[in-house]
Amino acid sequence: MVIPQTHRAVFALAMVLKTIHAIDNGLALTPQMGWNTWNTFACNINEDTILGAAKALKKLKLDEYGYHYVVMDDCWSLHQRNATGYLQYDPVKFPKGIKHLADEIHAMGLGFGMYSSAGKYTCGRYPGSLAFEEKDADLFAEWEVDYLKYDNCFNDGQSGTPLISFERYEVMSKALNRTGRPILYSMCNWGEDSPWDWAPTIANSWRMSGDIINVFDRYDDRCPCEDYICRLPGHHCSIMNIINKAAPLGQKAHAGAWNDLDMLEVGNENLDYEEQKLHFTIWAMVKSPLIMGHDITHTSDQALEILTNKDIIDLSQGKWGIGYRSYKKTNSQLWLQDATDNSGNMVIALINNGEKDDEFTIGFEDIFLDEWERRKAGYKVKDLWTKDDLGVIEKKIKIKVKRHGIFVGRMEFAGDPKIKPRAKKFHADPDEL
Ligand code: GAL
Repeated sequence: MVIPQTHRAVFALAMVLKTIHAIDNGLALTPQMGWNTWNTFACNINEDTILGAAKALKKLKLDEYGYHYVVMDDCWSLHQRNATGYLQYDPVKFPKGIKHLADEIHAMGLGFGMYSSAGKYTCGRYPGSLAFEEKDADLFAEWEVDYLKYDNCFNDGQSGTPLISFERYEVMSKALNRTGRPILYSMCNWGEDSPWDWAPTIANSWRMSGDIINVFDRYDDRCPCEDYICRLPGHHCSIMNIINKAAPLGQKAHAGAWNDLDMLEVGNENLDYEEQKLHFTIWAMVKSPLIMGHDITHTSDQALEILTNKDIIDLSQGKWGIGYRSYKKTNSQLWLQDATDNSGNMVIALINNGEKDDEFTIGFEDIFLDEWERRKAGYKVKDLWTKDDLGVIEKKIKIKVKRHGIFVGRMEFAGDPKIKPRAKKFHADPDEL
């Protein structure tokens, strides 16, 4: 198998339609989903670990929920390029080569992701692609790679202004497009130089923060920024740190061009059940890529339950706009997501980041922010985690939310269909591209 039929059709269409947004490769019209090696294996990867993960993904039927890409992160190559300047895979880790690995993954119906850096070296100090973009893109296309995660380490000072970063990342974007193979371009420059302003025309997604850690909420000097404009993105960024930085950035994303809040920590130790549900919900609502990072061969029932909640996955993949925050108080935040199907429906999510279980009352004035007509209607509410039907509500809703937990309610318009108010639209829907 070379390119999945659907991808081929979308790519052909993208080539014909000049009006397409984003990177013109027709990929990631909804945020990409999959699994990545880094958070479980770091540099200890090889053919067996990656194929083992792909098999586990299939066995758990996670592909049926949308998890499609198996992404190999850093540390797959030798420390030297060959005599003609091409990257070489490590033959001890990959005795049958990368093309064979890609073939095996494709045979399972999954997509194969590759990793490099827009720098002299990758973060693990293997050769990076800076100044070798065309050679590397050609090699990746020859290996039938479907996805490139492209990092930012050792960039030789080619950052500091949006234009410098843009030009560095644009070289690989063009090189990938030139291969003629649709390769999803996942930029990983940690939010440096405000990628949300310039990446949408060259990449399918861009990281907006330093690396995530499986901690709910903790300041850490290794991730010093609390704001999205950041000179030192770092790593060990907690879930709440990333959520707070991401909150205003949704307005910059659209179909085919997404803010990436980093890999999921669902299924990893340390985060409790409530924290993991909160994490997964917000990642889905803001339409971040949903790339799992846990040891998928040891997925607990609880992690599986979270990762396969179809109602939550629908917030990422379905007809909903990009989630945004209505308010942020000391111990709580209210997040909203408008339906894009003209139904007048709405999703509300109340985060309780305080230290005790609590009760909250949310008034419609905080839900329908600048749409007075929509406040007048009644709405049928379903809790998307418990699946409880909460009946029809008007004017306000009262809910209980556990410590570090989230309430997510889908509000279905229950008024007179003739006067159904419409959500205002700020972004193109995937269908409109
Ligand atoms: C970091 C990146 C991580 C991982 C790591 C590999 O820069 O943010 O997600 O790819 O490099 O060395």
